[in-house]
Amino acid sequence: MKRRKAFIHTAGFAGISAVAASNLFAADLNKRFGEVIIPPSKEMGKEKHVPIIDAPSEVKAGESFTVTVEVGKKVPHPNTVEHHISMIQLCSLEEDSQYVANVGTFNLGPTLAVPRVTLPVIIQKNSTLYALGYCNIHGIWDYSIEVKVE
Ligand SMILES: [Fe+2]
Repeated sequence: MKRRKAFIHTAGFAGISAVAASNLFAADLNKRFGEVIIPPSKEMGKEKHVPIIDAPSEVKAGESFTVTVEVGKKVPHPNTVEHHISMIQLCSLEEDSQYVANVGTFNLGPTLAVPRVTLPVIIQKNSTLYALGYCNIHGIWDYSIEVKVE
């Protein structure tokens, strides 16, 4: 409540009515998680935050294949204590399933860890692979690809 009052007070200085400021504040709090994940289209052609997935487009059911997820593939992302990629997550959604499964989650330390992870993956059905990358300043970004099973 203290924070909300501070926001309304500040907004008042900017000429916004307390009612309008209150509605803006409430709208931000009502966003679902998926609405605050930043899509790849925000950095089209100069991806610095997008967790690009590199994997074969077609694999054999039950056979391991290699998946690499890299943030900063086209434009290197800063890697300092103050500004870095601290998490990469890979998830999978099989066709005909409504539940996304975690494949791997990687916590990365600043300055030492390169924001690139590679892991062997096995799928049984056509799947969509989703990657999330978390920048400690610019939030969570996503990317996805489809992998078909022969
Ligand atoms: Fe960033």
